[in-house]
Amino acid sequence: MSRNMANSSTFFLLWMLCSVALAIFIQAQQQTGFISIDCGSPENLPYTDDVTNIKYSSDGSYIQTGVNKNISTEYAYPKNPNLPEPLSDLRSFPQGVRNCYGLIAGRKGNLHLIRASFLYGNYDGENNLPEFDLYVGANFWSSVTFRNASEEVVLEIISMAESDVTNVCLVNKGKGTPFISALELRPIYSPIYNAEFGESSSLLLFKRWDIGSIINASGRYQDDVYDRIWSPYDSPSWDSVKTSSEINVNANGYRAPFEVMKNAARPRNNSDSLELSWTPDEPNSKFYVYLYFAELDQLQKTQLRKFTISWNGSPLFEPLVPHYLYATVVSNSKPLVANEHHVSIQKTKDSTLPPILNAVEIYVVREQDTIPTLEQDVDAMVDTKERYGVQRNWVGDPCEPRNYSWEGIRCNYSASLPRQIISLNLSSSGLSGIIAPSIANLSLLESLDLSNNSLTGTVPRFLEELRFLKYLNLQGNKLSGSVTNTLEERSRAGLLTMKVDDQNRCAWGDKKNKKVVVPIVASLSSVLALLVVFILIWKFMRTNNSDEEMSKPINGVRTVASRNWQYTYVEVLEITENFKTVIGKGGFGTVYIGKTKNGNQVAVKVFSPSSSSQGPKEFQTEAELLMTVHHKNLVSFIGYCDDDNKMALIYEYMANGNLKDSLSVRNSQNLSWERRIQIAIDAAEGLDYLHHGCKPPIIHRDVKSANILLNEDLEAKIADFGLSRVFRNEKQNVEVSAVPQNDNKNTESAVMGTTGYLDPEYYKLRNLNEKSDIYSFGIVLLELITGQPAVLKGEQRMHILDWLRPELKSKDLSRVLDPRLQGQYDENAAWKALVIAISCTASSSIQRPTMSVVLSELKQCLKVELPSPSDTIVVPRNVYSELYSSSEAYSMDSESITYPFPR
Ligand SMILES: *[C@@H]1O[C@H](CO)[C@@H](O)[C@H](O)[C@H]1NC(C)=O
Ligand SMILES: *[C@@H]1O[C@H](CO)[C@@H](O)[C@H](O)[C@H]1NC(C)=O
Ligand SMILES: *[C@@H]1O[C@H](CO)[C@@H](O)[C@H](O)[C@H]1NC(C)=O
Ligand SMILES: *[C@@H]1O[C@H](CO)[C@@H](O)[C@H](O)[C@H]1NC(C)=O
Ligand SMILES: *[C@@H]1O[C@H](CO)[C@@H](O)[C@H](O)[C@H]1NC(C)=O
Ligand SMILES: *[C@@H]1O[C@H](CO)[C@@H](O)[C@H](O)[C@H]1NC(C)=O
Ligand SMILES: *[C@@H]1O[C@H](CO)[C@@H](O)[C@H](O)[C@H]1NC(C)=O
Ligand SMILES: *[C@@H]1O[C@H](CO)[C@@H](O)[C@H](O)[C@H]1NC(C)=O
Repeated sequence: MSRNMANSSTFFLLWMLCSVALAIFIQAQQQTGFISIDCGSPENLPYTDDVTNIKYSSDGSYIQTGVNKNISTEYAYPKNPNLPEPLSDLRSFPQGVRNCYGLIAGRKGNLHLIRASFLYGNYDGENNLPEFDLYVGANFWSSVTFRNASEEVVLEIISMAESDVTNVCLVNKGKGTPFISALELRPIYSPIYNAEFGESSSLLLFKRWDIGSIINASGRYQDDVYDRIWSPYDSPSWDSVKTSSEINVNANGYRAPFEVMKNAARPRNNSDSLELSWTPDEPNSKFYVYLYFAELDQLQKTQLRKFTISWNGSPLFEPLVPHYLYATVVSNSKPLVANEHHVSIQKTKDSTLPPILNAVEIYVVREQDTIPTLEQDVDAMVDTKERYGVQRNWVGDPCEPRNYSWEGIRCNYSASLPRQIISLNLSSSGLSGIIAPSIANLSLLESLDLSNNSLTGTVPRFLEELRFLKYLNLQGNKLSGSVTNTLEERSRAGLLTMKVDDQNRCAWGDKKNKKVVVPIVASLSSVLALLVVFILIWKFMRTNNSDEEMSKPINGVRTVASRNWQYTYVEVLEITENFKTVIGKGGFGTVYIGKTKNGNQVAVKVFSPSSSSQGPKEFQTEAELLMTVHHKNLVSFIGYCDDDNKMALIYEYMANGNLKDSLSVRNSQNLSWERRIQIAIDAAEGLDYLHHGCKPPIIHRDVKSANILLNEDLEAKIADFGLSRVFRNEKQNVEVSAVPQNDNKNTESAVMGTTGYLDPEYYKLRNLNEKSDIYSFGIVLLELITGQPAVLKGEQRMHILDWLRPELKSKDLSRVLDPRLQGQYDENAAWKALVIAISCTASSSIQRPTMSVVLSELKQCLKVELPSPSDTIVVPRNVYSELYSSSEAYSMDSESITYPFPR
């Protein structure tokens, strides 16, 4: 097993839904991924807390600002013998408005439990309770207030990482100096605590109760992989039940510790119900409740424990029968909102035993309406800061929270877009060295002031990449070389205010040459035209240089260097022999086979005039940009036609057609298991390139088996990528009947995609991102594995996920795998592929892996000897199918349904 563990990377664990693999991992290596900071403790003094056994470290590597303090002796040990050790000291922040801890905790999209603890303890001798605000990243978490100096304020939030670094920031509101005593982060690997929320909200802990517990104090247990703090909760009308037998808590991702699960409460009077009530701190708070059940008594044949759970009088779940020594968690799938909350657990009529309850967690939704700064801009700023050692309080998100943005920058706060930096002023900041290349990545920069520093080196060419630059000040530096012609032109055309030292002026723009220049810049429009050309050439050259793979000539048909991509309509007619042979029809147009002059077979996609919402200019621009996108797993562009509103794209010809046809029942050609996995890998490579190799990233939006083409060697390539860029308002591909309500403002109007492949979250929230492609890819992968189409056509149309769910219950692989494979596959690899596919189709996009992760996992499926798979697979609730059925007000959460793997 240990060899196994060493091989499996952390990333693998982050997204694998197999909780048992996780269990073993964590037992072997407690506190994996834990960050436990005893704020204010002396440097380099990691220690293990006697009570919790948790290893705490000092702040040093997480924050540079603040001062260490000890609480005053009257609140400290030994006067306060129960004081947790981390709370005896703290870090306070007399300087700066915002101070942040940077926690490096996995990747963007990971779920974290973050806990911040505060004990004032009159550390400053002023006996004055401060009040300040706490943020996670750019998002408001909570205000921190105290009732007295000895109060331990502990705040917990479950939140999704917005980047590799999670910033926890304290903001001074002018009501006293912020401080913090302890900061802890626990990674949550399983897709839990997730009802409804994704990138748009976090969960604040409201209550976490260990029901029926016999101990008085809050408990924290070593077998709790999330290190939660459980408070005892009891009622005089309850009795305790307990067991000392082992309980299976691993079947669901919540994994409450044994100490918590082993006790339960039941009503003293058998016919009573168990009642829980709470009042929200703020009206309109949205609550999620997680109820933990495990049967602790071995029941006789004649006995039955069955109960209903209702909230404010309406049923919350279907009647439940807890399993013997087996933990089940149920949670509401829609948030609960009311002035008072009453949860009642009542035995059903046929139940011979009273209800039980083992534990409860209650969370409040904290909307994350702040849009963080674009990662590329953050990276560029961090790089700039580090390169120059900028002595400013540049921590956390540069643009958010809005009133506390970094000094010297201004951001664009337009409604729905990520924040981007539009102005950077580093004037008189003692900078030396060259102008930081990362500045070129601040793509919306309008104003750049680097004046009065000691910058050296040449004036970089990349400044002209900043298309929106209106103000540039480089005066008072020691730069050599001159600004580029492009910048001079923009300056002369009045588009740019440029202040540079004389030696940096462009020779081309000297007075002597002015005559030459005048005709060129005579009209503004010609300058703009030139600009467009420059940008195009630059983009083209850059894509060309940055990735070798991209610039490979296409099959000898045409090298990238020859820019003769444009074909006339007459040429298209010649190539297709007057549109002789149709080889396909898609949402965007009809595809014909053709032959170029040099004898290469091509596919020509001809668009109906109505299908483009854009003018010819845009089509041309987009087409030219797409021509620069090259990858061995993307169907190559050969050219385009844009002649008198007749538009066509010419692609390389793919001899074996599309994957959908290859997989269809009619098709006799049988794809082997290895070939199927190889096709999945090919397609994943193509998508990974679109997502991570292209700038800006390209989201395909219509990944489906019909858009994956196979060449004569059955190598797969992605087709139709980038078309969504060309045809932005295209609607005809969508066949979805019901239109859900949608109040989300950060959305776009037209949903693109194909029934069966359409990401339910994108459909609901309309916030498009690469994870929508991941969902669709997951469906394609399921098609490859099962041989079933995305939508099964029988008496009733059925989504592949809905078909899969009951089939998996049988634990019989042969029921789900394509019968045409005739058992010719490695079982472990097949399970693994299934897990990958299912994780891709998680209903919440944050739980889906990225294409790179999918890719590396798929590659393992090709290896012969896979380790024996883990025990559980969780099929996500398919929100998509809910679009069709009139779902009940509240339904069982999917997480409780698990399917054991065979050994
Ligand atoms: C806090 O107390 C510890 C020992 O109890 C001491 O080592 C440390 O220097 C003190 N820190 C400050 C900031 O006074
Ligand atoms: C401080 O406040 C907490 C919470 O209200 C309370 O439990 C505690 O008794 C108070 N302590 C003192 C010394 O007043
Ligand atoms: C719980 O607290 C009560 C008084 O508050 C005390 O009598 C009892 O011994 C405590 N029980 C335990 C297990 O600590
Ligand atoms: C239990 O509750 C029922 C109904 O509330 C009541 O009739 C019965 O007397 C109670 N039994 C006991 C033992 O208290
Ligand atoms: C920012 O400050 C302005 C006025 O200074 C205030 O109206 C606004 O609410 C503040 N915004 C935030 C997010 O604090
Ligand atoms: C912010 O960006 C939007 C869209 O790019 C643009 O329309 C707007 O003018 C920008 N605002 C500022 C202040 O630059
Ligand atoms: C940059 O900041 C300096 C002072 O810090 C100021 O004099 C200058 O005008 C600013 N530049 C711009 C473009 O606002
Ligand atoms: C600019 O951003 C790209 C990706 O967003 C990154 O690969 C590159 O390193 C950045 N360039 C600099 C100079 O920071």
